[in-house]
Amino acid sequence: MRLLVLGGTVYLSKAVAEHAVARGHDVTIATRGKTGEAPEGVTHLTVDRSTVEGLEPLRGKEFDAVVDVTRFPNQVGNALDVLAGKVAHWTFVSTCSVYNDDATPGQNADTAPTHEPTPDDSDDPAMDLFGPSKVSCENQIRERLGDRALVIRPGLIVGPGDRGDRFGHWPQRIAEGGEMLAPGDPGENLQYIDVRDLADWILDAAEARTSGTYDGICPPMTRGDFLRDIATALDADVTFTWVSQDLLVEHEVAPWMGEQSLGLWLPLPEYAGFMNRDVSSAIAAGMRNRPVGETALAWRAAAGPEPALRAGITREKEAEILAAFHAR
Ligand SMILES: NC(=O)c1ccc[n+]([C@@H]2O[C@H](COP(=O)([O-])OP(=O)(O)OC[C@H]3O[C@@H](n4cnc5c(N)ncnc54)[C@H](OP(=O)(O)O)[C@@H]3O)[C@@H](O)[C@H]2O)c1
Repeated sequence: MRLLVLGGTVYLSKAVAEHAVARGHDVTIATRGKTGEAPEGVTHLTVDRSTVEGLEPLRGKEFDAVVDVTRFPNQVGNALDVLAGKVAHWTFVSTCSVYNDDATPGQNADTAPTHEPTPDDSDDPAMDLFGPSKVSCENQIRERLGDRALVIRPGLIVGPGDRGDRFGHWPQRIAEGGEMLAPGDPGENLQYIDVRDLADWILDAAEARTSGTYDGICPPMTRGDFLRDIATALDADVTFTWVSQDLLVEHEVAPWMGEQSLGLWLPLPEYAGFMNRDVSSAIAAGMRNRPVGETALAWRAAAGPEPALRAGITREKEAEILAAFHAR
């Protein structure tokens, strides 16, 4: 397969390019050459998709499949102007942030309501427009490519090489052992996807020319199972103390990301649907998810023994909250 990755030098798109090379495909990646490094075995074209002219190196080329990770609607339009007539299949990597109801559990990609899209020519990088921008990108892809279009909406992408560490805090802390703070209730659900599973599914789908719109996240698993399975895989001697949302808020723990945060933990009830989605259609379309223990082991191997994490709570903060918990 002649595959074009629009991207290819950063986390997910790089994994797609690497896995495609390993499968024996003829892989071209196209970027400005500003971020990351091209994987071995690919042809790297220098483009800037913020204008149609910046995509000239791709004009006239034909591909069996394109994988596109941009968040900017104008970049989608420019790439479609140059390539739409020349490609057999286009995967657009979107996001679960397109949904505008984070509270209702059990929603699926076919029927869940999405944000109003930004204009097709938007290149506004504001973070609060991330979801609306992706809706606009999705709409253009579907309108112009019809059944050649596949849209995958990942939730949190994790695993080896993760740059956010919203997953990494958990295996790192569990490996240290002892009494450990666990947020909320062990029965609450969470979802994420291992970058390698997502890359493999994208390639399987491109090879099979699968079309449609799907979530790209594992089936919901309880936080209790998540932590226990990681502890088992790491052979860790750890006990979990479940601390209520109220106490975490009182101690200014941030949900999801940032300083003194806990990843894969979100306030309830307003986010009760965010990591509780029905992904049966994605599984029917070929998504496969490895056990979380495998993801944790691979993350640890890539991160090394003492990684400087960009998310999670400090041990001091954890001790302070556990002391408050036991004092009640
Ligand atoms: N991380 C998560 O947990 C998460 C969750 C949900 C969805 N997603 C989605 O998953 C995807 C992740 O993609 P990724 O890991 O490959 O990272 P990314 O940061 O989206 O990669 C951007 C790639 O595009 C290239 N690029 C940027 N601006 C460009 C321009 N003007 N012209 C040409 N190329 C340009 C970059 O290289 P240069 O800078 O060198 O041009 C880079 O290779 C994204 O679609 C993201 O929205 C991520």
